[in-house]
Amino acid sequence: MSAAADVAARATAGFRQRYGGEPAGRWAAPGRVNLIGEHTDYNDGFVLPFALPLRTVVAAAVADDGRWSVWSELDDEPVEFGPAEADEPGRVDGWAAYVAGVVWALRAAGHTVPGARLAIASDVPVGSGLSSSAAIEAAVLAALVELGGLDLPADRWPRLAQRAENDYVGAPTGIMDQSAVIRGRPGHALFLDCRTEAVEQIPFDLGAAGLAVLVIDSRAPHRHADGEYAARRKSCERAAKALGVAALRDVATGDLEAALARLDDTETRRRVRHVVTEDQRVLDTVELLRAGRIRDIGPLLTASHASMRDDFEITVPEIDTAVEAALAAGAYGARMTGGGFGGCVLALVDADAADAVAAAVAAAYADRGFTAPGTRTVLPAGGTTRLD
Ligand code: GLA
Repeated sequence: MSAAADVAARATAGFRQRYGGEPAGRWAAPGRVNLIGEHTDYNDGFVLPFALPLRTVVAAAVADDGRWSVWSELDDEPVEFGPAEADEPGRVDGWAAYVAGVVWALRAAGHTVPGARLAIASDVPVGSGLSSSAAIEAAVLAALVELGGLDLPADRWPRLAQRAENDYVGAPTGIMDQSAVIRGRPGHALFLDCRTEAVEQIPFDLGAAGLAVLVIDSRAPHRHADGEYAARRKSCERAAKALGVAALRDVATGDLEAALARLDDTETRRRVRHVVTEDQRVLDTVELLRAGRIRDIGPLLTASHASMRDDFEITVPEIDTAVEAALAAGAYGARMTGGGFGGCVLALVDADAADAVAAAVAAAYADRGFTAPGTRTVLPAGGTTRLD
């Protein structure tokens, strides 16, 4: 059985076992990596993520009692909640908060959400920075929209799923992850303008070019990631205010030096420099990909990493080790992907060199005494969809 069929079968088996009977349908949403454009989304800037061939599947059916029951492979017992808990952000916690958050966001937007029984299975690893939470949100959202016959076109799903995460779960994240997992397309990266939500599907056909993206799970323990993320976001917002712009996206690359000169502390200057130069790197990457020059994006990926390490200060030793080892082993470019303080690194490599690069990273890890990394090659996959 393929991995995709297997995870769907696990969701169905979970549904039958917990609730009896058959689900009305199954909906799948992928994890994501971000090719480039980090911490730019909440600055109204540009990102270029793609959906992964790892998926979360929810098997679901309407429940007539108007309540929600959610089982996942992560727990033995289902979590149950009703409208009162759904309407009070924070009442449901743990992984089920992402489900309750979607119910909350739909209700807050005026939709009549049907009660439902849901069973969730997932191949997206939790806590690796591959957006397992956005995958749950998107799959549940797709299920509830369809089960309830809600009038909610898919281009409005990312903002709604983001609200679930921001306002119910309480994580002040941007709109990248939800957009990537909802709107991703096979063979393409998603160029998203986070201010306008305009998207362009950029061809990213690694296979035809003999290339691969190696995703390296750093296995670094998360070190205060939530608090640090919120602190970076605040710092960017303060800087935008000080510069008199709505968001750092409004600082043009050519105006960067003048803008920096107007800020009086060096830390804020570094934060601003990261965001402004990162937006430009996204635009440059898109230009190269449009011209079919995939290999040439390597230096931009590596420059993005240096900027995250030195200016935004969100990398950790395991992550920097993985990037350095991948580059030394011949990767065209490598960078941390996602929010930081752990998570994954991606490296652009020749497909037939992927194993050697992975081995070099593992060896560097062993030298430093780090827990062995996880490695896999990935191709851009499709977004959220109904399976049957
Ligand atoms: C996390 C957030 C995203 C984005 C990235 C950093 O993945 O969920 O919204 O801010 O970090 O680029």
